[in-house]
Amino acid sequence: MIYLDNNATTEIDPRVVDVMIDVLRSGPCNASSQHAIGRAARLRIDDAIDVIGSAIDSALDQPGGPRLIFTSGGTESNNLALTGLADPDAAIVLSRIEHPSVIAVAEHLAAQGREIRWMDVDHTGVAKIDSLADLIQSGDRPAGLVSLMSANNETGVIQPIEQAAQICRDLGVTFHVDATQSIGKVPISFRSLGASAVTMSAHKFHGPTGIGGLWIAGGVKLRPQLHGGEQQLESRPGTEPVPLICGMATALQLATSELPETQPRLSLLRDRLEQGLRSAHPDLVVHGSSRDDEGEVALVPRLPNTTCLSFLGADRQSMLMALDFAGVACSSGSACSSGSSPPSHVLLAMGLPAEQVQSALRFGVSKFSTEKKIDDAIDRISRCYKRLRQNRAVEN
Ligand SMILES: Cc1ncc(COP(=O)(O)O)c(C=O)c1O
Repeated sequence: MIYLDNNATTEIDPRVVDVMIDVLRSGPCNASSQHAIGRAARLRIDDAIDVIGSAIDSALDQPGGPRLIFTSGGTESNNLALTGLADPDAAIVLSRIEHPSVIAVAEHLAAQGREIRWMDVDHTGVAKIDSLADLIQSGDRPAGLVSLMSANNETGVIQPIEQAAQICRDLGVTFHVDATQSIGKVPISFRSLGASAVTMSAHKFHGPTGIGGLWIAGGVKLRPQLHGGEQQLESRPGTEPVPLICGMATALQLATSELPETQPRLSLLRDRLEQGLRSAHPDLVVHGSSRDDEGEVALVPRLPNTTCLSFLGADRQSMLMALDFAGVACSSGSACSSGSSPPSHVLLAMGLPAEQVQSALRFGVSKFSTEKKIDDAIDRISRCYKRLRQNRAVEN
């Protein structure tokens, strides 16, 4: 199987596994226990927090400074941010292409009477940042919270978070960034980002599943959503999963320290895949791009590993199944919706024609992908596409 679904999850790095096994084998690990064994567990967490702080360029040990709340992953961090940050009565602004773990929470809050204001995206998949200040200030009272992802999980298109941060700072609005897809793929400094809170998830950067974090800037208040323990200063109670925390710290340290080599390699492999497929099928549509009057394709900035392609004349679900059978793993949307796979809300928000939405698949390479596997994948994908197109032609 050639694994090209690295935006859904990544293979854990063996070096992370080694660290986790050491911790798992080290004995009981409850960092709240008031004995030497408990103190040793606490020390492991403190060390992991130091490692994470250096990796994201944000010291996490200063009183009153930024802090990191460990969660079970990106979904929980996004839920915590949307429900726990800012005035619970003030409107929330979010882009139409956020992950379901943001959109569904917003819809849940809307059903309870909270006002949601939607930021549109253009046809390349970039949020219309020029509308943000008006969205914040429109209505009876200003919005209290803005949530914008750093890069989209389906198209890989990078979003204007620096500009959004500046607007939010000028207007005094809390700003949450879902950086789940960016960490480990592009450099990101939490210190200079200017956000109030940032979501991360370890399994997206070759760490374990079941652990993530919500970084909170100094002075930003958070209402906890869980109750019943004093862990993590009651922001997110529950016994801390020390092996997962150590795994996440190691994965983040590796992802950021190796990024100067990984980032260009991911780009090369993704471009090889795109170019190989486009030379075999010139009408393939690459999302996150626009065509000028001469038909030249200009791509907007994207994550180096991601490509979202429309295979015109084929149905994405049939193509996904054919590729699965041929030994290529990819996705027809975000992993959460891949079982039922309704049409992508991201591509719909970009205003793309139905034929492009119905035939879109996402491919994501990782540091474990190789040129050989990419060439093999190009071959398998091309063959499946040709066959499905021929079948469709016969049916019609
Ligand atoms: C942008 C984005 N946010 C949040 C999530 C949810 O993360 P997790 O799977 O860790 O809950 C994902 C997962 O696909 C994602 O891509």
